[in-house]
Amino acid sequence: MSFPPALRLGVNIDHVATIRNARGGRHPDPLRAALMAAEAGADGITAHLREDRRHISDEDIAKLAREIDRPLNLEMAATEEMLRIALQAKPHAVCLVPERREERTTEGGLDASGQHNHLAPFIRALREADIRVSLFIEANPVQLDAAKALGAQVVELHTGAYCEAAAHGQIQERDAALARIVAAAGRAAALGLEVHAGHGLSYDTVQPIAAIGQIVELNIGHFIIGEAIFTGLKPAIEQMRRLMDEARAGVT
Ligand code: PXP
Repeated sequence: MSFPPALRLGVNIDHVATIRNARGGRHPDPLRAALMAAEAGADGITAHLREDRRHISDEDIAKLAREIDRPLNLEMAATEEMLRIALQAKPHAVCLVPERREERTTEGGLDASGQHNHLAPFIRALREADIRVSLFIEANPVQLDAAKALGAQVVELHTGAYCEAAAHGQIQERDAALARIVAAAGRAAALGLEVHAGHGLSYDTVQPIAAIGQIVELNIGHFIIGEAIFTGLKPAIEQMRRLMDEARAGVT
């Protein structure tokens, strides 16, 4: 295997649905965004079906699963309702995330360690249906070991704390968060887990994460959709791709 492996970009299209839902109609259509994202170089499409359906809808998931020619990564909470939907839609992968209705976005990682008994049957059922299972966790060795013990094939490392610190100019906190992600990526790969990362990434923060050789996929949404307002969706994705590739090219 060549090192580092290629770095995939999963484009999260949730916030196309946020804009659509602001008026309750059909425009802009997340499926159209997904098809355009694929043309612009997205390797996969990510969508989060939240329990309150604030952005992506059940119908969006069904259409995405049917009509895109890229792997669909369905983010969802570990609930019976979501499991039923996943088993019906059969996405390429499910990323289990923690979810509280009152949060604005996914605010922390999944407690894979503390919730072992709750999560185990969901992971088993998804794997039995040939759906890859990813756990969205903090960059923390306890959570990595728990993800491995639970039989997840993938971990997605939460980059939120790193991005928040960067946005607030908190250099020490930013660097400490980045160091935790670097260490976690190394440990995850040594455990045989596929390593992804995401949450809050932007043009300013993506490169140090893209330069971590064990990470093979980044899932990025809010920034790309926001930037698309100014530049268009394709140029926004192409620029993110360029920055990722540039950072990756420097990795030996
Ligand atoms: N990865 C996971 C697991 C997420 O929950 C989210 C947000 O839905 C993202 C990545 C993308 O985060 P952002 O929209 O901030 O780029």
